[in-house]
Amino acid sequence: MDKVWQENKPLLQVDAGDLFGPRNQNEREQTRFLCEVLGTFGMDAIGLGEQDLNYGVDFLREMMTKNNLPFVNANVRDAKTGELLLPAYRIVERGGIKYGITSVMDPAEQIMTLTGGEGLFKVDDPAATLNELLPRLRKECESVVLLSHLGETGTETLLKDLKGVDICVIGHTFRNIETERIINDTAVFGSSYEGRFLGKADLFIEVQTGRVMAIDVGMIDFDEKMPDDPEVLAKVEKFKTDLVAFKDAKRAAYPRVYGSDKEQFLGDRTCFNCHEDAWKKYAETGHRRAFTSLRGDGQSTEPDCLVCHTTGYQYKNGYSDERPFNSLVNVQCEACHGYGTSHARDGKWRLQARNSCVACHDKANSPGFDYATYWEKIKH
Ligand code: HEC
Ligand code: HEC
Ligand code: HEC
Ligand code: HEC
Repeated sequence: MDKVWQENKPLLQVDAGDLFGPRNQNEREQTRFLCEVLGTFGMDAIGLGEQDLNYGVDFLREMMTKNNLPFVNANVRDAKTGELLLPAYRIVERGGIKYGITSVMDPAEQIMTLTGGEGLFKVDDPAATLNELLPRLRKECESVVLLSHLGETGTETLLKDLKGVDICVIGHTFRNIETERIINDTAVFGSSYEGRFLGKADLFIEVQTGRVMAIDVGMIDFDEKMPDDPEVLAKVEKFKTDLVAFKDAKRAAYPRVYGSDKEQFLGDRTCFNCHEDAWKKYAETGHRRAFTSLRGDGQSTEPDCLVCHTTGYQYKNGYSDERPFNSLVNVQCEACHGYGTSHARDGKWRLQARNSCVACHDKANSPGFDYATYWEKIKH
């Protein structure tokens, strides 16, 4: 970027969305840091990707204000109020030309937040949105830039029937679009992903009309050959230390205080040796997939989730991410029955297990819980 800035040419800096990380708290801290650094770039517009709502709309707005990040989007609404979440577009003047920059997201993409679940947002049809918006937008600018968070095929389909977009940057793609492409009079390009590449397009634009006369696309690869920027590197190093402290603080909030040092969780394989039938039934239940469910959500290091999705979290010798305790993933036999080393045969163990459910099946996480119907599904 330093090099680009030194060229001192009229420059538009845009991002087509999915700047934010996956839905967990560590990633949220990294996203905070990323936004802080990107804020120093002076971005002209950022399209909204579904990932950018991973930590909720309040967090997004906080990042926008704190770091001057100009997110725009024309088709994502608050499901309750029906209002657009963000400004539909921005006008930016460069080299005597006014650019109107807008963005749309794919309605088929599921939007989920870390804090509020699903169903908080409503996404309008991108084509209908743009057909309505573009004529208005053109009155305010000479050149229209679309940050299309629809991936490659979605964008191609959209542009085939759409007039009035001069430049389109594709987001939500895992491929660099390195060769210049013209679809229906629109110059199209895009770079992917995880900030590994910087797409750079030189555009030759007719000043009177704002029309793109020619385009030359290049891709800058941030591989090992790219030297580190000392200033940013120093910030990264500091951030890493902060992140370790953040993780430690969270772990400290979940100390291993329950149970006894003398007892051990033996793992479901041990139980299998004498209770094969029970084990086989257990293996078919959701309890055996509880950790996988977290992984699917990118939350398998999240203490807030591990309490109920592993065996013996917060118990002495219970689950932790270190060997040998990292084998105690999922809700194994001993999550309900207790330490294997305290195996009883006098009926006590059954009773204890019957009382165990509600520690995890609480109102927040299992609102429909009813012992009789739930037991029926996992009985062994
Ligand atoms: C240590 C926490 C914990 C305890 C104790 C627990 N559960 Fe669960 N249970 C879970 C989790 C987590 C899931 C979701 C698993 C997944 O990711 O699919 C679940 C899912 C279930 C399901 C739906 C999955 C299926 O296979 O149909 C049933 C039924 C169920 N539990 C019954 C019970 C009953 C009955 C008890 C008590 C005897 C109990 N659970 C005790 C954590 C627990
Ligand atoms: C207090 C215990 C508890 C905590 C904490 C908890 N869960 Fe769960 N979770 C459950 C139970 C119980 C179920 C099963 C609910 C049911 O079927 O009634 C469940 C179900 C799920 C499911 C659905 C599994 C499926 O495929 O149907 C997912 C995904 C999930 N939890 C993820 C998480 C994540 C992510 C966190 C942390 C942010 C978390 N849980 C924290 C107890 C908990
Ligand atoms: C979700 C909690 C839970 C999990 C996980 C679980 N159990 Fe149980 N188990 C129970 C409950 C509750 C009972 C007692 C039911 C009753 O008597 O009402 C029980 C009963 C039993 C019994 C006595 C059955 C009988 O009628 O004699 C055995 C043996 C047993 N479990 C073994 C296992 C083994 C082995 C595993 C792991 C492969 C396992 N359980 C996993 C909750 C659980
Ligand atoms: C060396 C064999 C052996 C192993 C290993 C073993 N059990 Fe048992 N278990 C037994 C025998 C024998 C009984 C009593 C027979 C019966 O009541 O059906 C029993 C009974 C039980 C009962 C009924 C207890 C009660 O309250 O009366 C449960 C629950 C149980 N086992 C769970 C487990 C779990 C969970 C594990 C793994 C941590 C496990 N067992 C490992 C042999 C074993």
